[in-house]
Amino acid sequence: MKGRIPQAFLDDVLARTDLVEIIDSRVPLKKSGQNFSACCPFHNEKTPSFNVNQDKQFFHCFGCGISGNAISFLMEYDRLDFLDAVDDLASKLGLEIPRDASKAEVPGSADLYDLMAEASQYYQQLLRKKSDGGKAIAYLQKRGLSGEVARDFGLGYASEKWDGLLNFLGGSPDRQQKLIDTGMIIKKPDTGKCYDRFRDRVMFPIRDKRGKVVAFGGRVIDQGEPKYLNSPETPIFHKGRELYGLFEARQANRKLQNILIVEGYMDVVALAQFDIRNAVATLGTATNEYHLQQLFRVVNDLIFCFDGDKAGSAAAWKALEIALPLIRGDRLVRFMFLDDGEDPDTLVRAIGKEAFVDLQTQAMPLSQFMFEHLAKDSNLATADGRSSYVARVKKYLEKVTDPVLRELLITELGERVHLSTEQLSNAMDITQTSAVRSRKIHSGKPKTMTPMRMVIGLLVQQPKLAEQVADTDWLEFLNQPGAALLKSMLEMLHKSPHLTTGALIENWRGQDEHQQLMTLASWEHLIVEQDKVVVMFCDAIEKLFIEIRHLRLSDLISKKKQNCLTEKEQLELKQLLSGSI
Ligand code: CTP
Ligand code: MN
Repeated sequence: MKGRIPQAFLDDVLARTDLVEIIDSRVPLKKSGQNFSACCPFHNEKTPSFNVNQDKQFFHCFGCGISGNAISFLMEYDRLDFLDAVDDLASKLGLEIPRDASKAEVPGSADLYDLMAEASQYYQQLLRKKSDGGKAIAYLQKRGLSGEVARDFGLGYASEKWDGLLNFLGGSPDRQQKLIDTGMIIKKPDTGKCYDRFRDRVMFPIRDKRGKVVAFGGRVIDQGEPKYLNSPETPIFHKGRELYGLFEARQANRKLQNILIVEGYMDVVALAQFDIRNAVATLGTATNEYHLQQLFRVVNDLIFCFDGDKAGSAAAWKALEIALPLIRGDRLVRFMFLDDGEDPDTLVRAIGKEAFVDLQTQAMPLSQFMFEHLAKDSNLATADGRSSYVARVKKYLEKVTDPVLRELLITELGERVHLSTEQLSNAMDITQTSAVRSRKIHSGKPKTMTPMRMVIGLLVQQPKLAEQVADTDWLEFLNQPGAALLKSMLEMLHKSPHLTTGALIENWRGQDEHQQLMTLASWEHLIVEQDKVVVMFCDAIEKLFIEIRHLRLSDLISKKKQNCLTEKEQLELKQLLSGSI
């Protein structure tokens, strides 16, 4: 996936980004000597061992071993995948990831997007035609929707015909195939005949975050089964990755303060009708981590508002479990609980905008929901009950990765069971998250300091040293681990001499060398005195060079013994023996 973003683009983004600024806005940093430091946001500690070096554009924690550049930081701290992290940095700089690199861009998918846009136009136009969409309009009106909101959400109507869309858009075999690929028409396996997937339904176009239609949900008019029919998974649509209404919410308000997560298409649209334009819905799936990551990139305040039925409250608890690893001090997650039988659509129509917004501001904080929900089966009046309660809460607190927030939650738990924070911390022993534990195992330090490690280590820490080595061809003959890596590092730096440590390392993301380079980059003890660095580096290079001479020498000597030296090699041997090369 990564290979598709040109390295030059990544270099550019990293060159124009300041890691200190990125981190400081999330974890306030203090200047300490050459570096900036803070208590590590990735493990629990009382004294700061998390360091950020501005020149290197590299961070490292001596406590838990985590390190990396700005992309790595966002991936870890904001829990983004690689592309989203790059996208975040790029959009801050007003740059766009080159189109062919963005993940939605499956080969040939441009045509699929175009076709979906045409399909959406077709359905919208049918809705406006009295002869076709009359009953759909009547239904939408019955549900209180205005033409304006229908237009904002691009609502449409699929006619009763079996071949309406097929005839309108499937003008050639190639287009028909693409309609099949997008799931808009279905091909009967036995006869090979094609027909429209959506018939006689109100159509909700599902737009991705760029506003492109990637799928549809179709609601039956009035009664009928299934109530909703949705597009299948296609090259441009993965239902666990989209959120209905997110594009529309961002269009309506560029500076969203919070986002309401509801269950249904109709809930989103009905709320918009009441000018509550910050609602999104998952597409009939449970809320997943990806959804929340996407939402947290837009706002820091999420309010879940599920239906007031059994399924709704189960969905709320599931959402809480997904949210726990993602919450932090600066992120708010709250829950609105509706009365049984109510959904946001019926509620807002019953009580109106103001009262609904009031309820929204009174939503229950995640911590309260967690503590109260888990307390339901415990008798907190007895010591036994309290201790089993603590054990149950512990399981959930372990999922909280933000150390500061976890402390706060432990304090809150302590108040609820009348134990001091210290007593509780001891009882629970959850100072390290599993992520930190696994990192400690993986970031094993290299054992001995070979000249090769020295050269690579100094180079990754001070990329300017590359100018000391003009020629790199000789490294090809050096038959030892690291030689190829060193060669490509040098070549890269000869081409782009201004790469920082962080930007240099980016070239190996996803490869074995990445971790080795990060480890070497954080070995600050390699450099004892700054003014000796060049000498140390050249010494180590010299050692590598001598090694090559030895290799070559013994190679030539054994050839000579077998009497198979060429004239050129005889000359080379002579020079090597006399020490002139
Ligand atoms: N859903 C679905 N398929 C179904 C039923 C539901 O995909 N057969 C999904 C839809 O995304 C729907 C959501 O689950 O929007 C919530 O379902 P429900 O509450 O039944 O739908 P509402 O949006 O409330 O629709 P309405 O008010 O029209 O009944
Ligand atoms: Mn409903």
